[in-house]
Amino acid sequence: MTEPLVLGIETSCDETGIGIVRGTTLLADAVASSVDEHARFGGVVPEVASRAHLEAMVPTIERACMTAGIRLDDVDAISVTSGPGLAGALLVGVAAAKALAVALNKPIYGVNHLAAHVCVDQLEHGYLDQPSIALLVSGGHSSLLRVADVTQDIEPLGQTIDDAAGEAFDKIARVLGLPFPGGPYIDRAAQDGNPHAIDFPRGLTSPKDLVKHRFDVSFSGLKTAVARWVEREQNSGNAVIVNDVAASFQEAVVDVLMRKAIDACLTYDVNTLVIGGGVAANSRLRTIARERCQEHNITLRIPSPALCTDNGAMVAALGSELVRRGRSESRLDFGTQSSMNITEVVA
Ligand code: KG4
Ligand code: ZN
Repeated sequence: MTEPLVLGIETSCDETGIGIVRGTTLLADAVASSVDEHARFGGVVPEVASRAHLEAMVPTIERACMTAGIRLDDVDAISVTSGPGLAGALLVGVAAAKALAVALNKPIYGVNHLAAHVCVDQLEHGYLDQPSIALLVSGGHSSLLRVADVTQDIEPLGQTIDDAAGEAFDKIARVLGLPFPGGPYIDRAAQDGNPHAIDFPRGLTSPKDLVKHRFDVSFSGLKTAVARWVEREQNSGNAVIVNDVAASFQEAVVDVLMRKAIDACLTYDVNTLVIGGGVAANSRLRTIARERCQEHNITLRIPSPALCTDNGAMVAALGSELVRRGRSESRLDFGTQSSMNITEVVA
């Protein structure tokens, strides 16, 4: 039997993503982003995002089908992000997916965006080891997870107690006068900066904090420290070297994330670390992750940068895995869940 052909729809934030996979083979990954429409507001405007999804949906589906060389009625199942994310944005994707499922008479899976960020790695590096530790770092989430089975058994070990990692990148970019979304701009600026120029704080790493927050992260203290440092320099009439601040800030984030991720692997005796979410596209995180995993004999899996940021392929990848493992499809009346918990993989 040929492997199932799955179409995935992602609309949780500002990317309209349509992915098509057969088994774990990626056939198409069409993304239409409304990021430029949000840039002048310095953050994603939910109403603008919803409208952009509505406009982009049909053309993006058509583009994905053309790339994959398939017709819609070849599809065996539809998979769509049902949460977490922006309520109105999620609704557009879920409504489109339900319309397709009914029209084509195919099963539908309403899936968790965060589990999809983990599962997408299967498209490039084969089936996930069971269990794996997952470090999930995006604009809205930062979590450490023990993933025994990405379709039904994900245990949260820790998470951010304030800002998400990507959110910290975006806010610091603003302080430094860099465009939105800040992550890629800080990444680029940092390449010409000294990561050890300024010794910024590493949140929740003191022995006292580790007692209660061993696998949790916090970036609000770091954010304040960077903002204060910049302000102080400006007030003393010194030129702020953006590249050094970016590199030193990025180093603090990456250092903490990787310390916690490696600690989780060693504590739970798990040999595979998979990193996902937009911040996993960060070049310094990828380098440090490689070095530290090698040091501890941990297998590292990170998707290519384009599959780290939001896309439809990740949703299709998770849908395909659900089909392969024979998991039940969603009922047609499933809803969107803006704050869907990671322990719920399928709606
Ligand atoms: O996963 P994602 O595309 O959307 C959410 O689910 O949130 O993540 C977006 C976040 C943004 O905060 C963006 O600044 C960050 O990922 N990001 C990066 C990089 N590329 C995207 N952060 C650091 N370095 C990057 N290269
Ligand atoms: Zn995401």
